[in-house]
Amino acid sequence: MVEKEGLDSLLMDITETARVISDYVEAGKTICIESHLDADGLAAAGIMGVALKRLGARFYIRIERWLDGDIIKSALSGRADLVIFTDMGSGYLDLFRESVEKADASVMVLDHHQPVGEAPKGMIHINPHLHGIDGSRDLSGSGIAYLVAKGLSGDNRDLAYLGVVGSLGDIQDKYENHRLGGVNEIIVRDAVESGYLKTEIDLLLFGRETRPIHKALAYTANPFIPGISGREDESLALLTSLGIKLKEGERWRALRDLSMEEKRKLSSALAERLTSMGFKGEVAMNLLGTIYILTKEEPWTPLRDAREFALLLNATGRMDKPGVGVAICMGDRGRSLEEANKVLEDYRSTIMKYLNWLNENPEYIEELENIYVLHGENIIDEKVISTISTILSSNLPKPEKPVIAYATIPDEGAIKISARMVDTLTEKGLNLGEILRVAAERCSGIGGGHDVAAGAQVPYDMKDHFIRYVDRLVGERLSRGG
Ligand code: C5P
Ligand code: ZN
Repeated sequence: MVEKEGLDSLLMDITETARVISDYVEAGKTICIESHLDADGLAAAGIMGVALKRLGARFYIRIERWLDGDIIKSALSGRADLVIFTDMGSGYLDLFRESVEKADASVMVLDHHQPVGEAPKGMIHINPHLHGIDGSRDLSGSGIAYLVAKGLSGDNRDLAYLGVVGSLGDIQDKYENHRLGGVNEIIVRDAVESGYLKTEIDLLLFGRETRPIHKALAYTANPFIPGISGREDESLALLTSLGIKLKEGERWRALRDLSMEEKRKLSSALAERLTSMGFKGEVAMNLLGTIYILTKEEPWTPLRDAREFALLLNATGRMDKPGVGVAICMGDRGRSLEEANKVLEDYRSTIMKYLNWLNENPEYIEELENIYVLHGENIIDEKVISTISTILSSNLPKPEKPVIAYATIPDEGAIKISARMVDTLTEKGLNLGEILRVAAERCSGIGGGHDVAAGAQVPYDMKDHFIRYVDRLVGERLSRGG
């Protein structure tokens, strides 16, 4: 549970931030929103975009794949009088100093990553960690953007559902039954009360609301079910062997059409398959959880299930179409949705292709003393290495070892690293954001993030050194204990 004092002081800071933004809008100043390209970042940009549009503000939005000194410099030398960074910035506070001192524009950072360094004087910095609230699971970047939007106007309560989508995109559903907790509960409540959301407990298959059941099975990548994920034919065969009817008359049945008895049969068959393949009980338990249904979205679209909405946003961001994702968050359900559907199919089949490839080529996953390393090299596209790393982290035989996945960034002589671990490891004293930052800095790179999910970029030549150093740091932190 979130401490009341921490929440009160965070909300006070947020109210003040909203007031400052209003002043800029009223004075006719130009605002730039700089956000991150994952689902949470795009949802944050969409929320701020709608809130500013409703105020009649002059603004523009830029989406970045990561933050560095050059990006800060370029954001601050544009035509904006106020630059608002959402879902990024807190991990690189020292990088802001020089640019903030030189720039005419004012700067705000609304973020939930672990703060590193000191915010320069005059910069507004909103972050739950500064109030004793765990930003990696209790509040996301889009969640903060939503609270600021609500501070701008009560009318923006209808945007709460986007905060739910963003938090799910950042895998903050870490409470019992894959539920969102902490400050996220306030956002979930606002979304329910404004009539946009309902929740249910069910099998966590992809396309629960939208897909024929065998497709939903084949599309489920987390957990990755060997022989089922990515395999429509095998999924059909499994359902038939369980005596589950595929059609109701002419219509394919979706998961929501199945009876409790049929769902029970299906989930135990899936759990059995996972355990017979050596997966631990927790992986099989991953199959059941809280479903977030966006009731105003059309059934049979990927926007209906908030997790699938998040996947769609991620797809647009990772496949170089972040503008499409932002447009959907800002309300476009026409052309942008059509385009996003295509991108999503592409993205999904790309992910499935890599997962199946990995299943057949497990030697690319190396087990070191304290970590697993996925050598994506130039085989896995750097843009989807985060997604692959997330899926791997809950599907490897030893959950007590973090996963460090990397792939080469074309034409930059560097690698993109994406690290994930299960959240119980935080109690043992592990913090991937800190470890990746320290290791990247030592290897002439840049890194950081959350305790359970972090990233880095380092020169290709430093790859082996980086991996060995991360392995060593994980070992040291573990032996020191939590
Ligand atoms: O890129 P990836 O999804 O693996 O990143 C995990 C988390 O770490 C993200 O929240 C991202 O913003 C953060 N990150 C960071 N610095 C980097 C790379 C990633 O703070 N250099
Ligand atoms: Zn985020």
